[in-house]
Amino acid sequence: MLFSPLALGELELPNRLVMAPLTRLRAGEEGIPGSLLAEHYRQRASLGLIVSEGTYPSPAGRSYPGQPGIVTEEQIAGWKKVTDAVHAEGGRMFAQIMHGGRVSHPDITGGHTIVAPSAVAIEGEVRTPAGKQPYPVPHALTTDELPLVMQEIVDASLNAIEAGFDGVELHSANGYLLHEFLAPNSNVRDDSYGGSPENRARFVIETVNAVVAAIGASRVGIRISPEHNVQGIAEVDAADVRATYEVLVDSIAPLNLAYLSILHHEPSGDLVQDLRARFGGTFLVNTGFGVVTTREEAVALVADGHADAVVVGRPAIANPDLARRWNESLPLNEPDPSTFYAEGAEGYTDYPAYAG
Ligand SMILES: Cc1cc2nc3c(=O)[nH]c(=O)nc-3n(C[C@H](O)[C@H](O)[C@H](O)COP(=O)(O)O)c2cc1C
Repeated sequence: MLFSPLALGELELPNRLVMAPLTRLRAGEEGIPGSLLAEHYRQRASLGLIVSEGTYPSPAGRSYPGQPGIVTEEQIAGWKKVTDAVHAEGGRMFAQIMHGGRVSHPDITGGHTIVAPSAVAIEGEVRTPAGKQPYPVPHALTTDELPLVMQEIVDASLNAIEAGFDGVELHSANGYLLHEFLAPNSNVRDDSYGGSPENRARFVIETVNAVVAAIGASRVGIRISPEHNVQGIAEVDAADVRATYEVLVDSIAPLNLAYLSILHHEPSGDLVQDLRARFGGTFLVNTGFGVVTTREEAVALVADGHADAVVVGRPAIANPDLARRWNESLPLNEPDPSTFYAEGAEGYTDYPAYAG
């Protein structure tokens, strides 16, 4: 089943392996994708769908040096080369739109103010071009400022379509801006965007609706990661988690999105499967950072009916032809974490396809 076709939005995926969004920081100071990125993604076009690395919708939304953006004409033109290369190879590609929120520093955003739902800093240090520094206390977005941030995400989604992407994935996971609205410890607002589960889910729901209005539901997916307590997120009250994500999923279910993608360490557990049932549409899962996704796991998730497709990260970094290798049970290249966030082709475009 993992190697059978799947309808997703208006696309027909040849298999149910989705290349995970994977930040690799090779887009330079200007955040412009170049020929190296085009080659990396082109090599992986046989996966059912590629989701791009997290891509910033505004300079203030940038989380990492070397991360690509989708704001300027040059960035859009750079992405066009990437999507052209993937399409020429017969592939399909969504852009992950990622506003980093408080996971950043003015030395990374070019001096732009760091924004978040509330003025609550992440504990610990952030890696900046000037070395490690404490995470800054973010500016709490005022109610009046929220539509402006939403518009940046809408504009970035329109830019993604202009750049030839088949759709966008809204990054509402892993501690970045949209997730910061959902989690009770990063969102302590007292307006209609904070407090109750309904209020904390509101910004995400409105953003999804705005992007759908701009580019059409069949070109919009969303990634969430309930209980993924990273980058300062603490979703630790099971009842609150359930209430928050149920409101979110119930509200977006009628839109008929391209997909819902969930990162969770227990994808076959009650929480994830209940959210899936409420969503009712095409459903993708990933088991998270703890252990690297295996072929057996991916096969079982689809065969047991727990997901329509499986999002695969590190095995897709190391194996450009992962779809073939897993389909034919061929030996695998091992990923090298020391080159995940390095520069250049090493550990990026030099993993070989299976010889033979
Ligand atoms: C190097 C690296 C970069 C990542 N970047 C992103 C990202 O930009 N956006 C995102 O949603 N998840 C990101 N993730 C998480 C992956 O999408 C995926 O959930 C994770 O790697 C676990 O899946 P795996 O075991 O198949 O690797 C990243 C993971 C790794 C290892």
